Amino acid sequence: MDNELQLHIDHGRCVRCGLCLRDCAPGILEFGADGFPRVVENGAGRCTKCQHCLAVCPEGALSILGRSPENSAPCDGMIRGSEMLSLIRSRRSFRSYRHENLDAETLGKLKSMLAFVPTGVNDHRLYFSFVDDLRVMDEIRNAVNGELLERFRRDPASPELGGFSRYAKAILAGRDIVFREAPHMVVVSSPDDSPCPTVDPVIALSYFELYAQSLGVGTVWCGLAAGAMKLFPEIAKRLCIPEGYSLGYAMLFGPTDLRYRRATQPEMVRCHSVK
Ligand SMILES: Cc1cc2nc3c(=O)[nH]c(=O)nc-3n(C[C@H](O)[C@H](O)[C@H](O)COP(=O)(O)O)c2cc1C
Repeated sequence: MDNELQLHIDHGRCVRCGLCLRDCAPGILEFGADGFPRVVENGAGRCTKCQHCLAVCPEGALSILGRSPENSAPCDGMIRGSEMLSLIRSRRSFRSYRHENLDAETLGKLKSMLAFVPTGVNDHRLYFSFVDDLRVMDEIRNAVNGELLERFRRDPASPELGGFSRYAKAILAGRDIVFREAPHMVVVSSPDDSPCPTVDPVIALSYFELYAQSLGVGTVWCGLAAGAMKLFPEIAKRLCIPEGYSLGYAMLFGPTDLRYRRATQPEMVRCHSVK
């Protein structure tokens, strides 16, 4: 047992195939004198805790970081490419929600999934501010829309209203253009010193959106909500974003009665085959 990383090889199971060595991104595993994998000298500090060694071992012989293979979910339930494509094609931005909370089980599933999203250098310090309760969402909605109304009345040409300006008429008419009457919101923040602070939140929300929609939950990316949180820091205090973190992006979500019946027919994207 390597103490620092708690690497444990079950000698009865390990067939010394070397897959764990080959799949270790920082290359900190080697075969020891006894023929079994071990951590190279001074290698522990370079471990990114990705657990690839545990995941790749065909024999379930390797435990690390206090995780044993018996407690891992099996990877035999891969969905087919056609199903994945169908999910991607049918994904839509929902702007129509039931005015009710998601059930706790679905909310729990969505949150647990987030532990599996990739982050640069396996950083995994993202911070997710969830508005779990419709009543809290209504308070935030009312506060933001109230502030926007006041600003539009005071100085509609104010540059800080930038992205909101195109919705001025609707906002002045009292429509919830920012939060689309959604019952829930998730705002993702990342540490300023993380390797990929702008990309990681976007990846997390991309996974969140697809998983949510596979569960029948509507979602919409929301630049306006993210913008409102930046424009009104007093309201954003409720998100409890930790010191040294910056707000990445926001997504609204919730139960919906809306069903899209067919895919859209987007223009083909521009691709260049580099020679
Ligand atoms: C980064 C990003 C920001 C967005 N911000 C908003 C927003 O603030 N409000 C909104 O209603 N939709 C927003 N959307 C949704 C887009 O308007 C939507 O993706 C587009 O209209 C196409 O619809 P579809 O997602 O159903 O294909 C955003 C989408 C993305 C990717």
